[in-house]
Amino acid sequence: MNNQVWVNDVWKSFDGGRIEVLKGVTLEVTQGEIVALCGTSGCGKSTLLNVISGLEEVDRGMVRVAGRDVVEESTRVDLLRHHIGYVFQLHHLMPDLTLAENCMVPVIAAGGHRKDGWARLHELAQATGVTHRLGQRVRELSGGERQRGALVRSLMNNPELLLCDEPTGALDESNREKVFELLLDLVRERGRTLIMATHDPELAGRCDRTVRMRDGRIEGEASHG
Ligand SMILES: Nc1ncnc2c1ncn2[C@@H]1O[C@H](COP(=O)(O)OP(=O)(O)OP(=O)(O)O)[C@@H](O)[C@H]1O
Ligand SMILES: [Mg+2]
Repeated sequence: MNNQVWVNDVWKSFDGGRIEVLKGVTLEVTQGEIVALCGTSGCGKSTLLNVISGLEEVDRGMVRVAGRDVVEESTRVDLLRHHIGYVFQLHHLMPDLTLAENCMVPVIAAGGHRKDGWARLHELAQATGVTHRLGQRVRELSGGERQRGALVRSLMNNPELLLCDEPTGALDESNREKVFELLLDLVRERGRTLIMATHDPELAGRCDRTVRMRDGRIEGEASHG
């Protein structure tokens, strides 16, 4: 079996060990799998996604993405540039840049061609319904527009692994549906791997598998369909 993500007995604390957040998490995600990460607020979903992306270092345990050890600094940078797309819970777009400029940042960072980047940007913007907002500064956009923009940005380099933290949290029902469908289509059609933190049981049920976390541990799993 081809593992895209392999997390083995990972422990992570903050504040010099005073705040224990991940308490021995083990998780395997196969290439092409679509996984929902669920659990009450504060159980460690965002922290786990940060650990998988290499943005947070672990205290103990191992994390591999595409068979490569995320603990290695140079591997981490390379994976983040070329392999991983990340939609953060708080979008993290730069407020004074336009949406288009924000989306081009990962293309430039990865050494991609601007022309290809622009073509892809327009295709993704159309699919997410933000074309008319591309030239606008992010500070002028609504919460839902920012979230859709963040999704566009995360997909610019056509990442093998997509990590999404509540990607539809700020959207109304019709946009939530549109964006989630788009996300599933893009991921399925290209055989990409998706791990999505969500509080929405309906969306989770449409993923291949739900992984339930509780207080820093994996509490259970359910396969769908
Ligand atoms: N950098 C940090 N420093 C201190 N505590 C942190 C830090 N990051 C996260 N925590 C704490 O770790 C716990 C888990 O946070 P995390 O963001 O992973 O939860 P979550 O499951 O994503 O919650 P939510 O559903 O609300 O997004 C929380 O109690 C949080 O306060
Ligand atoms: Mg979170």
